[in-house]
Amino acid sequence: MGIFSKTEKNDFSYLKDRDIYLDGACQSLRPEPVINALNQYYKEFNSCGERVKYKWGKITDEKVNSTREKILDYLKLKKKDYFVSFTLNTTYGLNLILSQFDIKKAKIKNIVISDIEHNSPFLSSISFAKKYGIKRKVISRNKDGSINIKDIPKNAFVVLNAASNIDGRTLKNIKEVIKHVHESSGFIVIDAAQAMAHSKEILEKTEPDAICFSAHKMYAPSLGAMVVRKDFVKYIDTSFIGGGMVDDVDLESYLLSSENPDHLYTKFESGLQAWGEIIALGAAIDWLENLSKSAKKTLEENEQKIFNFFKENGTVGNIDIKKEDRDNSGKKLHLLNHEPTSTMSFYVDGLDSHLLGEALAGEGIMTRTGYFCVHYFLDHKMHFPPLIRISLGYQNTPEQIDKLLGELRKVI
Ligand SMILES: Cc1ncc(COP(=O)(O)O)c(C=O)c1O
Repeated sequence: MGIFSKTEKNDFSYLKDRDIYLDGACQSLRPEPVINALNQYYKEFNSCGERVKYKWGKITDEKVNSTREKILDYLKLKKKDYFVSFTLNTTYGLNLILSQFDIKKAKIKNIVISDIEHNSPFLSSISFAKKYGIKRKVISRNKDGSINIKDIPKNAFVVLNAASNIDGRTLKNIKEVIKHVHESSGFIVIDAAQAMAHSKEILEKTEPDAICFSAHKMYAPSLGAMVVRKDFVKYIDTSFIGGGMVDDVDLESYLLSSENPDHLYTKFESGLQAWGEIIALGAAIDWLENLSKSAKKTLEENEQKIFNFFKENGTVGNIDIKKEDRDNSGKKLHLLNHEPTSTMSFYVDGLDSHLLGEALAGEGIMTRTGYFCVHYFLDHKMHFPPLIRISLGYQNTPEQIDKLLGELRKVI
């Protein structure tokens, strides 16, 4: 078993010794219990949810409902205030909200995002502003990931990530931001794509209008989910519509199932859903909730070890430093992070990140290279060269990190 024999409990034993997966910010690996839950659905009760009378369908309904509840429990939100709908991914959820939002009813005059947003909210905010002819404001994040609330205007629709996919910095003052937006007659949707797996504490008991995330970044199958405030739904003017969303249809009219307060989730669930994936997301939440302290400690130690390596052998905290002010000390390695997180991005002076990524891949080390869908900030605003991103997960052992750092040492 080589490298993996040293892990306390190995739910990733299907990996080969050589596989050092460091791309969890794109898509996590799936632990055995999650894969088993998906297989169990296919093999034992493969059925449509919410419409069949046979036993398999009842099992599906029970488990799908249980996943909805687990998500709310995971975020410490109340069923009386929020509901959960499933989608394809974070991008899809954000677009479902933005494209159906009734700005007149909501009296919205601005759309606001931050400069380090992923293309997913970045692009959808551009099209939202264009479609409605409203102002779009892009605000800067502070070093610690927080936002100056004074930068958020009144009557704004705000979309912010709870954790960045460049350096994992979190929206430290998330509760204050949400309160401010609501007190300023605005609405706020949180992009929790990166926060759900390793920074979920920041999301607990936060009460934005919606939270969108991707299950595939939290050890679950490919799937999206949205957690939506019940009182937000009145601003959604349904136009993306199909089977599963209506209780009755006449020649020119229909009755939306979401008129029933117990079926609000149907508002965003058009057509058949990914029942097996939803059920396996429930298994992923159980798995995350029951992780051992030592698994969490290993992840933290791995993060710290990488950060220390950059501190000793290069520079750190480059994310806010303009091109002309960047280090000229002759050091080659430059980490963008101010602090260790499970997502760390760097570049090497004089070395193409894509080539380095390929060289690392030759050693079985799987990283991401480029701008990670944050083109505006990384390329156009800060003028970084293409980067390498190391995104850690619970599958990574200390030995794997030593191997990575050994390879980086060769570079310097
Ligand atoms: C912060 C953030 N937001 C949104 C997304 C988009 O996620 P998806 O492609 O699953 O919709 C990503 C994907 O990497 C992300 O990191």
